[in-house]
Amino acid sequence: MSTLNIGILTSGGDTPGINAAIRGIGKTALSFPGVQLIGFKDGFRGIMENRTVEFDNKMLSGILTLGGTILGTSREKPYKMIVAGHERDMTDVIVENYHRNHLDVLVCIGGNGTQKNAFHLAKAGLNIITLPKTIDNDIVHTDTTFGFDTALGIATEAIDRLHSTASSHHRIILVEIMGHKAGWLALGAGIAGGADVILIPEIPYSIKTIAESILERKKQGKSFSIIAVAEGAMSKEFARVYNQLSEKIEKEEDKDKKSRLKAERKDMEKIHATNTIRLANQLQEHTGIDTRVTILGHLQRGGTPSAYDRLLATKLGTACFDFIQKKEFGKMVAVQNNDIVAIPLEKVVKKIKNVPLDHPWIKSARSVGTCLGD
Ligand code: F6P
Repeated sequence: MSTLNIGILTSGGDTPGINAAIRGIGKTALSFPGVQLIGFKDGFRGIMENRTVEFDNKMLSGILTLGGTILGTSREKPYKMIVAGHERDMTDVIVENYHRNHLDVLVCIGGNGTQKNAFHLAKAGLNIITLPKTIDNDIVHTDTTFGFDTALGIATEAIDRLHSTASSHHRIILVEIMGHKAGWLALGAGIAGGADVILIPEIPYSIKTIAESILERKKQGKSFSIIAVAEGAMSKEFARVYNQLSEKIEKEEDKDKKSRLKAERKDMEKIHATNTIRLANQLQEHTGIDTRVTILGHLQRGGTPSAYDRLLATKLGTACFDFIQKKEFGKMVAVQNNDIVAIPLEKVVKKIKNVPLDHPWIKSARSVGTCLGD
């Protein structure tokens, strides 16, 4: 007869380090007598469909270095799932399956979307603890998230490699880097890889400024340029319209009008998805320099986690079990100044940790002469 039943799921985009976190929680938990660990496949979809896997110690061996998530993942939301072709709120079914499995707590590993979904389940009465994972590093109240360091290394290596080809052909190469609406990954990899221009969502850019800085480099005999472009980077013109629309959505109280405005914003985001290619064409026109684009995409999330991410995920995973024992529910396990702390989910949700404009990385980038497009 078990005395503590822990459920676990992984949700949102996979990141290197998730399996290290599952192992950290699992190995700690299963070393106590009477503890049972039940995994749910494919995120919130899996708990809704009651697709379970019961962990034993053997299943937790050999996964520390594996990328992805052995549980599978999805971007499904408990309150908005497609079931039999219709969008439905499946919260009640999830609550039912939580109790059917006699869970004492459900651990949700994920990024900002997962924190929000987990908070929703906590408000529905479930005992929830979350861990922060995302390559975007954009979760508030934690100094960092696992996955970020690995992606940073991959993006930096890509910039390193692009240097020799850009230099040989005297080209501009734009390298698009993930990060959603935050610029941590592009800024970090851009600085570490020595990009000549770094464009991040927090600093809207002017094409004229970028073109001038590239032409200035040419004048100094530097016939190539590498531009690290965050996928969320916006021109000043686009940012003005987009931010005005977002403010309008925030203020709108009428439900129908709000959803119409949201649809308008989705359309803008669809157009923006090809922004790096458009920017490349514009820069070629402005500078007369042959220009190419590399979109790193999901390469940044694939493969084995870095040593730092394995360590961070293990630290958070093992600490998670301590918080379970202390019944610190409705919280996210976070890192703050090297301490592991539990932050109430209501403080975490509906926020994005953007790069502050006075962040030391921005200062350093400017100090070494990197153009930030403004
Ligand atoms: O949140 C992680 C992330 O990789 C973002 O950087 C990116 O915008 C998004 O996920 C891509 O999502 P998907 O894997 O669903 O295409």
